[in-house]
Amino acid sequence: MDKLVIEGGKPLSGTIRIHGAKNAALPILAASVLAEGTVTIRNVPRLLDIEVMLNILQDLGCRAEQQDDVVTVQSNTAYSSHVPESLMRQMRSSVFLMGPLLARFGEVEVYQPGGCAIGERKIDLHLRGLQALGAEIRETGSRIVCKAKRLIGAEIILDFPSVGATENIMLAAVLASGRTTIVGAAREPEIQDLERFLNAMGGKVSGAGTDTIVIDGVRALGGCDFEIIPDRIVTGTVMVAAAATRGDVTLVGTRPGHLTSLIHVMRRAGIHIDVENDIMRVVSRSRPRSVDRVVTSPYPAFPTDLQAQLMILLAISDGVSVVKETVFEGRFKHVDELGRMGADIRLDLNTAFIRGVPELYGTTVEASDLRAGAALVIAGLAANGRTTVEQVHHIDRGYDRIELMFGSLGGHIVRQPYERVSTGTHR
Ligand code: UD1
Repeated sequence: MDKLVIEGGKPLSGTIRIHGAKNAALPILAASVLAEGTVTIRNVPRLLDIEVMLNILQDLGCRAEQQDDVVTVQSNTAYSSHVPESLMRQMRSSVFLMGPLLARFGEVEVYQPGGCAIGERKIDLHLRGLQALGAEIRETGSRIVCKAKRLIGAEIILDFPSVGATENIMLAAVLASGRTTIVGAAREPEIQDLERFLNAMGGKVSGAGTDTIVIDGVRALGGCDFEIIPDRIVTGTVMVAAAATRGDVTLVGTRPGHLTSLIHVMRRAGIHIDVENDIMRVVSRSRPRSVDRVVTSPYPAFPTDLQAQLMILLAISDGVSVVKETVFEGRFKHVDELGRMGADIRLDLNTAFIRGVPELYGTTVEASDLRAGAALVIAGLAANGRTTVEQVHHIDRGYDRIELMFGSLGGHIVRQPYERVSTGTHR
């Protein structure tokens, strides 16, 4: 696997435009299976997860290709409703295909996407939602088969505002007969983007962004031309990196309204953030202050996907900070690695107690998952000396060539491609 070698201690500075949102693009790509015409999706980031989704669409018989940040999908050629286990295992977001394939073919065969590094990640809420719409579900081992001659609108109450379950239900209900109401829906901006996309194809969806989403089923959906929102997690990652390196970075084409909770926490830490329309400038000249309590929770609260990155800022702050993770149970994998860079963090179940240190020191660390990996890159940029981040493929799932992104702001990061060690001859 590739490695990133980072020479730390240099303030980031300059202007950057953030790429499109992975978590908006993935369900939207899955939704394109429903279109009878050609779908053009713009501002799609070039990421490993997007590549996997395009491979799955091709495997189903769709024509799907990406050129720069534009993806076109033609689904009228699709013939299969079976997502092979090997592809399901590559990416959890393949579960998004359950709803649309069920709606389009009346049946779908997938496999449990399995647990992952950040927690158990069940799909019971997805399955219960589809069941409420009339699907018959059979699980044998990891294989899941859902069948429904006809999906019928229903009221579905989610016990927890799961992002994926909300999206999957929307994707199935859009072609169901009658009205579906999702009560207790997730409110993330990516769900609003999915609503906009479904409506651009001719769907009748309203309420996204609130906890009640109403979907009036339509008979068919057509093609459309659509632009994905900017990635709020990548935006937040750059903001924290700018602050942690005591830099001065201007981010353009952003949606500051999607990052209210992060802006609030960073300002409490003493970071200057100027917001003007879609432009944010992050400036930090001195050591950040600690923040007494940050709790991750569904949107609009502090996002779990920025918890690891924020922790770098708190690790070098003046004072003691407390961070509680309530969304995923296994999301503190970066803590041990940060300890090896000199951070002073103690864990007690789902709470981290962070005693800020004046400096972090470069060493070799390993990315355990996407956001933990991004956090380690920020740590490397802020640290004294050289940091090597291993297992970079996790980071490539969600950041388009992170070394170039930070390189454009003056960060010193070099990617060392993985070299397979050959047995036998040495040169
Ligand atoms: C999405 C995001 C991910 C983000 C997460 C929370 C995408 C592609 N991924 O993931 O980056 O970290 O939202 O903001 O959009 N749960 C169940 N049963 C279910 C579904 C979820 O118990 O059927 C639990 C999960 O185990 C987890 C919590 O609900 O503890 C949140 O999961 P969910 O909101 O569904 O996250 P994802 O859609 O997987």
